Parts: sequence; structure tokens; C-alpha cells
Amino acid sequence: MMKRTKLSRRDFLQTALGAGVAFSTPTILSAARGEKTFKIGLIGCGGRGRGAVVDALEAGKILGFNVKVVALADYFKERALRAGKQFNVPPERCFGGPTSYRALLETEAEIVLMATPPLFRPLHLEAAVQAGKHAFIEKPVAVDPPGCRRVIAAGEVAKKKGLVIIAGTEMRHDWNFILTHQALAVEKSFGQLYAGRVSFCIGHMFQTSSINPQSAEDLIRTWQNWLALSGDHLVEQHVHNIDIANWFCGRPPVSAVGFGGRARRPAGDMYDFFSVDFDYGEGVHIHSMCRQVSGCWNWVGHEFIYEKGKTNGSDYPKPQQSPLPPDLPRGPSSHVQEQIDVLYYVNQGEPLDQARAVAESTAAAIMGRISAYTGQRVFWNEIMVDPDKKPELYHLTLKPTAEDFEKGTVEIPQEHVLPIPGISVR
Ligand SMILES: NC(=O)c1ccc[n+]([C@@H]2O[C@H](COP(=O)([O-])OP(=O)(O)OC[C@H]3O[C@@H](n4cnc5c(N)ncnc54)[C@H](O)[C@@H]3O)[C@@H](O)[C@H]2O)c1
Repeated sequence: MMKRTKLSRRDFLQTALGAGVAFSTPTILSAARGEKTFKIGLIGCGGRGRGAVVDALEAGKILGFNVKVVALADYFKERALRAGKQFNVPPERCFGGPTSYRALLETEAEIVLMATPPLFRPLHLEAAVQAGKHAFIEKPVAVDPPGCRRVIAAGEVAKKKGLVIIAGTEMRHDWNFILTHQALAVEKSFGQLYAGRVSFCIGHMFQTSSINPQSAEDLIRTWQNWLALSGDHLVEQHVHNIDIANWFCGRPPVSAVGFGGRARRPAGDMYDFFSVDFDYGEGVHIHSMCRQVSGCWNWVGHEFIYEKGKTNGSDYPKPQQSPLPPDLPRGPSSHVQEQIDVLYYVNQGEPLDQARAVAESTAAAIMGRISAYTGQRVFWNEIMVDPDKKPELYHLTLKPTAEDFEKGTVEIPQEHVLPIPGISVR
């Protein structure tokens, strides 16, 4: 039993962190304490981006590294400048505009934190990897299937270049989740996984009346309300829980059958509720539900039913063997832990790829969305593997694209116009 379940640290990275390569012994960490300065940059200086920088500064203190913010980029220069004041970055290192990320990538920043709307992640990650930067990428990482594949491909290139890519899939950095996953999904303490449910049901979010956008800037300011920028809330928010389902199942779903609609959302072009049956193959189904409607029953969480017990994903941290590196410090929150992990693994000097895992979770969420929008059963093979099965889904590219924002060719989506199941084709 012990022999079968014993995990090396390489195995840990592959299973717990979704990584693909080995790394060296932990002695480098203690040797580097206090001597090393990591230079970081941020693309997308909104709430989460600035929060991630604060977390990175705290992570540096915990690890004993110096962390210096050397450059900031935002679509709106005033937001980059405001963040510059917060993090002591001079105005000439605070870049604005749709191509501000390129200016940032030309600086000496070695780790780039990315927290723009998800539409831009594939383009920005590709550019960062090309520029030889390590990256922290907030979830989700795309809004359509080609975007997910671009992120997976960028992760592969990053691996070859020896770069670290860490994703903002919070719970994969939470030790209770990691240890529970180890006990149940790796060591199989409860036997076989039969089924589960994941949920992100909360009250109304974002705009409370029509937006009536007139410009690309209006779309950026209200991005959480637009399919093409956010991917819809099933992707933008519920991806966290779908990611846990993929992780505990050990694979992405085979297919999705989803329902959804818009009951009360007063702005933008998205649904406000979804219910999706994900078929993970081998008889395992995970029910996913998400809703942003006030005055309803709410639940954010997970439940997985095994042969000999059940878990919420974090309540059985009792593996026979901990997969966590012995010198990896435990942070006070999963957001700080994400940044501890970034610095820790960059310091190891060997590649680590979490791009694939988060791109697959994003793609699973997109598969659920397409199913709800069209009323059809949608297969993983159709959107991610075989270009010939359903080319209209495999190549589905939402508009406006990230490139449209750079070229000034943004067409404003029609507000309140929604997909109709049984009629819409994507
Ligand atoms: N893990 C979490 O807990 C968590 C929480 C909130 C948000 N998020 C994710 O973080 C990301 C950002 O969310 P947020 O809440 O910070 O949004 P936000 O609107 O507060 O910030 C986004 C920032 O990106 C800038 N931006 C937009 N397009 C850009 C571009 N092309 N180039 C440069 N800058 C650009 C915007 O001007 C804005 O300042 C999203 O992917 C979101 O899903 C994660």
C-alpha cells in the first residue's frame, strides 16, 4: 500500500500543482534567504492585480527574499500611475494603453503578474513567455477554446525555456485542499470516486442598470458584464470550483449538458444562472451550478462522494505521505500562498507549468457555457482535440478579440441580446 501511494516531489507537482517537470532539492531556499531580490511587474492594476502585488510583497517577507515592484501596466494609464504611488514605482515605469503590456515586458521585471480581464490572458502570456518572463496568471485564462489552447501551448514553450507559470486557482495552493486531494484522489483512502457537485451561487454582481457602451474603454471598465471579455460568470467565477472537480477527478470532463438563462441581470450580454452536468467518464458525473441572482439560496463549495466517504475537498487532510516540500512555508491565506509558491519555485530555478491545468479548467467551463447557450451536449473532443468534429466550436473565437483592442477594431456587442438554447449555435 505504502509503496503504491508513495509520492516523490515531482509527482506532487504533477498531481497537486498540475506541473510537468522535476525540481531540485530544497537547500537552495535557505542559501538564498536575504540575499536575493525578485523584480516583479503587474499587468492589470485593478483590485485583484494590486492585491496580488501586496500578497507577493508579503510572500517575500515570509520567504526571506526581497521583492521589488519595477513596472506596472494598465489599459488606463491613470490606474497604472495610481498603483505606482501605492508600490513606489516611478511614473516612467507606469505604462498605459492597450499595448502597455509590451512596454512592461521590455523592462527587467523577471516575474509578471497578470490580472487583466481573461480575454487578454492568452495574448499577454504568449508575449511574456516569448520575453523569457516567469508568470503568475489569474484565473480564468481565456474566454474561448482557441484561447485555452494558446495558453496550453505557451505553457509548453515556457517549460522548454525553464520558466515558472503559476495560476491563480486558489484552492490548488491551499494546504488543506492539497492534503485532502493527496489522501483521496492520489492515495484513494475512500476508494473510488462516484460523483460530486460544485457550486458558486451568490447574489447579484456588478452593473445594476444598462451600460449602453459607446467605446472599447466602456467595455473594459465594465468587463465583468460582457461575454467576450469575461467568458460569462460560469467561466469567470465558477471556474474555481470546476477546477477542483477536474483536479479531484484527475482529468477534464468528456462532455457537458448545461441549462442556463437570464432571470434578472440588468446589463451586458451574459446569463445569470447555469446548471451543468459534467460527464467525467467511467461513470463519474459532477453537477455544477452557478448563479448571480439576489434573494436566492446561496452556496459556494464542493462535495465529492466516494465509495467509503465524502469530502468538501479540504476536510480530510490526512494523507499517508505529505506531498508538500518540507521547506515550503505555509502562508496566512491562499492568495499569499500563491505568491509564496511563485517565489519558491522561481528560486528553485527549474520550470513549473500550471498553465495546462488552469487552461483545461477554463475550457471545461467554456464547454458548459456552450452547452447551456446552444442546448446541445458538447464534447471535450469537439472543442479541444479534433478540429474536424465541430469546427465551429473548435475555432469559436469570441469578438471583440484581444487583438481588436490593440488595432482599434472593437465592435461593441449588443446589450441584452442573449443566446437562445435550441437556436443559437455557439
Ligand atoms: N482569484 C480570485 O480570488 C480573483 C478575485 C477577483 C478577480 N480575479 C480575476 O482577476 C482578474 C482581474 O479581476 P479584477 O477584479 O482585478 O478586475 P478589475 O477590473 O478590478 O481589474 C482589471 C484591470 O485590468 C485592466 N485592463 C483591462 N484590459 C487591459 C489590457 N488589455 N491591458 C492592460 N490592462 C488591462 C483594467 O483597466 C483594470 O484596471 C480576472 O481574471 C478575474 O477573474 C480573481
